[in-house]
Amino acid sequence: MTGDSTRLTRTVRGAGCAAKLAPGDLDRALCGLDLPVDDNLLVGLERADDAGVYKISDELALVQTLDFFPPMVDDPHAFGRIAAANSLSDIYAMGGMPKTAMNIVAFPAKIMDISVLRQIIEGALSTLRGAGVVLVGGHTVDDSELKFGLSVTGFIHPRRILFKRKLRAGDRLLLTKPLGTGIVCTAIKAGLAGAEITARVTGNMAALNRVAAEIMADYPVSACTDITGFGFLGHLAEMVVDSGAGVRINPAALPLYPEALEWAAMGLIPAGAYNNRNFRGEFVRFAPGVDPAVQDLLFDPQTSGGLLIAVAADEAERLRSALLAAGVETAAMVGEVVTEPRERIVVE
Ligand code: CO
Ligand code: CO
Repeated sequence: MTGDSTRLTRTVRGAGCAAKLAPGDLDRALCGLDLPVDDNLLVGLERADDAGVYKISDELALVQTLDFFPPMVDDPHAFGRIAAANSLSDIYAMGGMPKTAMNIVAFPAKIMDISVLRQIIEGALSTLRGAGVVLVGGHTVDDSELKFGLSVTGFIHPRRILFKRKLRAGDRLLLTKPLGTGIVCTAIKAGLAGAEITARVTGNMAALNRVAAEIMADYPVSACTDITGFGFLGHLAEMVVDSGAGVRINPAALPLYPEALEWAAMGLIPAGAYNNRNFRGEFVRFAPGVDPAVQDLLFDPQTSGGLLIAVAADEAERLRSALLAAGVETAAMVGEVVTEPRERIVVE
């Protein structure tokens, strides 16, 4: 029996947090396919955003997303909580309210005790409860590698969708969780991370973006996304492309795990970070002097990262204070939306 639930990540074959296709691969798979056309499909594959949106009436639309991955921490209950927070995050990033969820489970029943799955689902249920979301079902298959996630459906007002690309020049950018989880998870998998940093990063990944999303709904927010597998700059590039605007990032203002910076300087960097840089690096200009380890953290694939919120400059400080007052631990003013360079990111 290799059902050692204290080393869940040892069962993961790929390096890093979420073993996923290299960015761009999916675009190649979908390119030229006859995608569905429907007047009520407000957000679909053609203009991918954090989640799909389908209009039911002038007042109501469904917002739908799905995410699943192999474990990035060794505690099954924590993995369940992280997977749930991560799956719900795309709904919050669209400005929606999640309502129902379904489990997606790939479980190695031959090598792992079923009690592990029970703990994962228990963790997910606790997070769903905290979000006011009901679990309505799911599907489980036997697989050589453990994977878990959720398909989530929520409600959204058709005229209050927060698209990625609606950046407005002059807006300030707020980020609600620290960066570097991919590097920390790589260290966890390698057995290098101590209990304190493991607990800290686990707590952040398991934290819902719910409070931040509810608070930002009362502010003049022009665009929002959540930071996940493409890394901070990969997701920021998605906001910038076709937006007509550019972004200036202040590297000194970025919330970073200090441990991740040290590990990055040692070369402990997940493959996904290199893929992200190859895919989106052309949109980014680093000023000379930006620490290479900081650059690596900005492309590091994140699991259940924070919201990146573009808000009107004269309300940005008030939103930041409101987030902190409501218990959101990180609310960093990391940059601003500019007119030049158009559709590019400058880090200086
Ligand atoms: Co997203
Ligand atoms: Co997603």
